[in-house]
Amino acid sequence: MTTNLLTLPKAELHIHIEGSLEPEMMFALAQRNGLALPYDSVEAVRAAYQFEHLQSFLDLYYAGARVLQTEQDFYDLTWAYLEKCAAQFVRHTEIFFDPQTHTDRGIPFPVVIDGITAALRDGQQRLGVSSGLILCFLRHLSAEAAMATLEEALPYGDRFLAVGLDSSEMGHPPSKFQAVFDRARAEGFLTVAHAGEEGPPEYIWEALKLLKVSRIDHGVRCVEDPALVDFLGEHQIPLTVCPLSNIKLCVFDTMAHHNLKHLLDLGLCVTVNSDDPAYFGGYMTENMAAIAAALPLTPEDMITLAQNSFRASFLSDEQKQTFLQAVAQAT
Ligand code: ADE
Ligand code: ZN
Repeated sequence: MTTNLLTLPKAELHIHIEGSLEPEMMFALAQRNGLALPYDSVEAVRAAYQFEHLQSFLDLYYAGARVLQTEQDFYDLTWAYLEKCAAQFVRHTEIFFDPQTHTDRGIPFPVVIDGITAALRDGQQRLGVSSGLILCFLRHLSAEAAMATLEEALPYGDRFLAVGLDSSEMGHPPSKFQAVFDRARAEGFLTVAHAGEEGPPEYIWEALKLLKVSRIDHGVRCVEDPALVDFLGEHQIPLTVCPLSNIKLCVFDTMAHHNLKHLLDLGLCVTVNSDDPAYFGGYMTENMAAIAAALPLTPEDMITLAQNSFRASFLSDEQKQTFLQAVAQAT
């Protein structure tokens, strides 16, 4: 694989901003906010990032997020990620944030969203990285808590474009959140949901049919249901696949066994994303390089992945065309 295929213009569609908290920043923010961390060093934090499954990661991810306290903290976190985007040819990004991770420990919702959106505005102006925000509900919490979060967010509705569903998948099917997704769509928001990361194909069907999602986050378990694969292909419902995440969380044992190439060959609209880059070993370029090294991807596959990232985005058709032309020019 030539390096220029790693430098194609791309969009990222599956990144949890809290998951971009690098250990160095975790220490800096802990010190700034007068908090103690249960680690002696940055190296000790990194050494702790050995996960058996999604939940073992989430436990550390929620603990790490406790250092985020002020609007400046959320700004700095988001800005650092946007600088990575600019360095890695990510021209557009649609970012998840988890308000409940913060409001449940007493951080006001405006502190979170003001810090993030100020950085997004500066990222557009100073780095040329365009962006959108997706508000995620934590599925291990109640449907009522999700509805209360949506209500609290509605006055800021011009700051986010979609709602999503993340956190512990097993035992928390999309159907649990049908009412809040109905409400969000009635308020004009697009919808996405994590499904088929650890959960069964049935959860992907529920996300499609009950939550009426525009994209499936992860979705790699769709291959267990041929009718579902047909549906996803026919409607070109994008899958935001996260290769390094899937290895770190033991969804696949090695990258060589990842089904991304198979999904592409089935004609599905696959995109590559970093999920929680500070925890899983890398951002977009590291994910692209890892799949290029381990899977029999052709140069055309790599170009398709770059094109799909824009096709699957929530940009306007006109903006998509502009970015697709930029991909064509770079190949
Ligand atoms: N929150 C952050 N990363 C996640 C993932 N990979 N799956 C579900 N929830 C998450
Ligand atoms: Zn995710």
